[in-house]
Amino acid sequence: MTVKRKILVTSALPYANAALHLGHILEYTQTDIWVRFQKMRGHECYYVCADDAHGTAIMLKADQLGISAETHIANMRAIHEADFRDFLIGVDNYHSTHSEENRQFSNLIYQRLRDNDHIASREITQAYDPEKNLFLADRYIKGTCPRCRTDDQYGDNCEACGATYAPTDLINPVSVISGAVPVAKNSTHYFFKLPEFTDFLQQWTRDGHVSGEVANKLSEWLDAGLQEWDISRDAPYFGFEIPDTPGKYFYVWLDAPIGYMASFKNFCDRENIDFGQFWNSDSTAELYHFIGKDIVNFHALFWPAMLTSAGFRTPTKICVHGFVTVNGKKMSKSRGTFVNARCYLDHLNPEYLRYYYGAKLSGSVEDIDLNLEDFVQKVNSDLVGKVINIASRCARFVTGNDGGRLSSSIDNPGLWDQVSGAATAIAEHYENREFGRAIRDIMALADAANEYIADREPWKLDKDPANKQQVQDICSLGINLFRVIMIYLKPVLPATAEKAEAFLNEELLWRQPIEPLLNHRINSFHSMMRRVEKARVDAMIEASREEVAQASASATPSAETSDASGADSHLLAQFPVAAEIGYDDFIKVDLRVARIEKAEPVEGAEKLLRLTLDLGSESRQVLSGIKAAYNPEELEGRLTIMVANLAPRKMRFGVSEGMVLAAGDKKGIYLLSPDSGAVPGMRVT
Ligand code: MSP
Ligand code: ZN
Repeated sequence: MTVKRKILVTSALPYANAALHLGHILEYTQTDIWVRFQKMRGHECYYVCADDAHGTAIMLKADQLGISAETHIANMRAIHEADFRDFLIGVDNYHSTHSEENRQFSNLIYQRLRDNDHIASREITQAYDPEKNLFLADRYIKGTCPRCRTDDQYGDNCEACGATYAPTDLINPVSVISGAVPVAKNSTHYFFKLPEFTDFLQQWTRDGHVSGEVANKLSEWLDAGLQEWDISRDAPYFGFEIPDTPGKYFYVWLDAPIGYMASFKNFCDRENIDFGQFWNSDSTAELYHFIGKDIVNFHALFWPAMLTSAGFRTPTKICVHGFVTVNGKKMSKSRGTFVNARCYLDHLNPEYLRYYYGAKLSGSVEDIDLNLEDFVQKVNSDLVGKVINIASRCARFVTGNDGGRLSSSIDNPGLWDQVSGAATAIAEHYENREFGRAIRDIMALADAANEYIADREPWKLDKDPANKQQVQDICSLGINLFRVIMIYLKPVLPATAEKAEAFLNEELLWRQPIEPLLNHRINSFHSMMRRVEKARVDAMIEASREEVAQASASATPSAETSDASGADSHLLAQFPVAAEIGYDDFIKVDLRVARIEKAEPVEGAEKLLRLTLDLGSESRQVLSGIKAAYNPEELEGRLTIMVANLAPRKMRFGVSEGMVLAAGDKKGIYLLSPDSGAVPGMRVT
């Protein structure tokens, strides 16, 4: 028997201002599978989570609903807990960051940081809503993009041209909350001196606490230089007031990870578990945080630094996953692929999705695509067609109406050894969060079991009563193989495993070596899982679309995730998915047919040509990076397509008054042109 490990596991705390969707469920499923696996293996493993209840977004949402923030977060918590329960996420404790335990730990940690001289304070200038009397985070200010002049852009970046800027750069800024013009206002803020932890973090992020992939991303941030982290917000704010600092509150991201400790403390008090064994600086317990790639900086930079300063242990591992896409695209409300957890549950069995996610999960931050056709196909062919099929094919030859008894010997010891002997390798895959590999191995074993049964054809043998024992032996092995496969799948399919336990008349435990059930009484077989019907999936997508249509009237922007360091979106940027735009956005682009009058090289520029374009009623100068593909002379006289309303851009080699369109990749550049007959100035739509 291996040593019994003490393991504390967390998932990121969902914001208490919105329902859970299938993206969240990926994370909670991943964590839950890992935790169930550890528990099955006999370790002392606890899984805690909580609602992340603080911040401006939640305060405004409650306002909008006309209820108190406390009522709002209580409502949301009940909804989240029901979603957890119904997706079979077996948390040991679900708490809230708006709790007494969290207030105490937040105060304690803050006081220790301050006593260690890791807190700075200084006055800063921010945008302020003079009607609502509150400071505005970037996401609460909208205006015209200073670069491309698109209207209605947020205060930190432009969705049309990708520019990033300060809200003070916006043209005609307004407060999203009241519509008032923001004014600049000063106030004192408190900062965590993160740069002092640079050396510590350089080391920590290379010590196996994050994957190599994540470590590389972190080292980009570390090399670029860390900045002091603004951890205070001014009233009105829904959160904890900073000790001895009236009117100043902890920024939601300061007390959110502390919520992991608070939830665990709440659990320890109830269950009589020693909190310190898990959190003291000399703890030998393991601590795992499961998170998405958008919140890596908070968990792998700010959090270990805070814990170190405050004299607590740091995490063993930060396990980072990618984002869920549906049918290859970012989840989209208009396509109906932004599916809420509850909407899924109204239509489909949670274990279908647990299995599908499990089959796709690995230890990397790559995005996970929920392809709905593949989903139906895979669940039906693997679970119903392969796994459950083993039991349903064999059961009727072993059990009568009131059950039956398995043979007292193993018909094919080689096959038994193959299936039961895979336990070590499969366990290792689970341990490393390579669930996809574990499931591939398990399905290969299910294939082997099915081949064995197909090969021996017990249904044919059964026609002659002289073969009774042989049929019994074949099917007993079949059922024993089914049992081993269900042991392996139990972390993924806890409800089906329970049904299998009722059938097998035995609890499924992961003890190694796995011994066969011989001369053991089993119960009659009842259907364990139905096939996924494509029609239910379609109905779910339709229902999601309708939900969105009904809810669209009450949209509030979600703030708080991206105003902390400016670094949050970098991991996301590594794996971009083009944002969907509406027709209204598309139509803003004025595309025109243009004739290239003149094309000439630009002195000093390797890639550029200077094009003089005839637009019918006017002429434009455009600098275009197509020199590698064209001789200037061959372009002259040719028609192409240009963006005519692009704001003039000042480049190193002069001003460019628009842009010509070309397709291209590493191998070549291909200028677009209209069919013959088009004339300069024609609108392209
Ligand atoms: N409240 C913060 C976390 C605080 S942890 C101390 C937060 N909340 S969240 O509700 O926005 O996200 C919760 C978790 O769900 C995060 O780990 C996030 O990465 C994950 N996901 C949110 N959308 C997701 C997808 N579309 N796909 C996969 N995971 C996603 O961040
Ligand atoms: Zn722009």
